[in-house]
Amino acid sequence: MTEKTPIIELRNLTKIYQDGVEFRALDDACLRIEKGEFVSIVGPSGSGKSTLMHLIGLLDTPSSGTLLIDEQDVTEMSDKERSEMRNRMLGFIFQYHHLLPDFTALENVMMPLLIAGTGKKEAKEVAEKLLTEVGLKDRMDHKPGELSGGQNQRVAVARALSGSPAIVLGDEPTGNLDTKTGDMIYELLRKLNREHDQTFIVVTHNEDLAGKADRIIRLVDGKIISSA
Ligand SMILES: Nc1ncnc2c1ncn2[C@@H]1O[C@H](COP(=O)(O)OP(=O)(O)OP(=O)(O)O)[C@@H](O)[C@H]1O
Ligand SMILES: [Mg+2]
Repeated sequence: MTEKTPIIELRNLTKIYQDGVEFRALDDACLRIEKGEFVSIVGPSGSGKSTLMHLIGLLDTPSSGTLLIDEQDVTEMSDKERSEMRNRMLGFIFQYHHLLPDFTALENVMMPLLIAGTGKKEAKEVAEKLLTEVGLKDRMDHKPGELSGGQNQRVAVARALSGSPAIVLGDEPTGNLDTKTGDMIYELLRKLNREHDQTFIVVTHNEDLAGKADRIIRLVDGKIISSA
């Protein structure tokens, strides 16, 4: 197998919180994630999973170490450059869908595109295509209050993919769903990963789901203990 380009590389990445005492939420993490990989992150509560996701997602800055995304050192970037890269490269799916309640599924998926300056017609076409891919062709005109938990999470998946991000980050995207619905969402992410060649990094508490990934990264007390 030929070696793929790492789309994400962590070199001794550390996040320290200081509130009276020093706390290492992420401790000297080294990791390479290749383009198109589907990686699961597991670890006990408080082990640093969300901290890691926030750093990779450019939602937070490390205390020390280096983070490369698409071969660029993001730790050297200005806030403006980082937010530009975040908008261009990264899509987010959270535990709770965070959809706008007064807008339909279609409008929720169109929203990030419209904000990014895409024309209304094109945004609608992209949103319709994605909602069809996630199995919601017939529910596009429903608002979040008129959809099930699993359906809303599908809308959130479609929204995360709307800008064709190279990297999709999920922080327990199935954490709020029953087992069967969670399985379905995970399968959907896996399918989208294969079909779109996007890189997926997904935090989960569920070992069965984690096992479906190409690779599992295990965190304990802020340290990556394995990434086989
Ligand atoms: N803003 C903060 N200030 C101080 N400590 C923080 C802050 N954010 C997180 N921590 C601490 O860092 C550690 C790692 O937190 P993190 O949210 O990354 O854990 P997690 O693995 O995502 O846990 P969970 O499975 O419960 O979501 C925890 O001990 C947490 O209390
Ligand atoms: Mg967390």
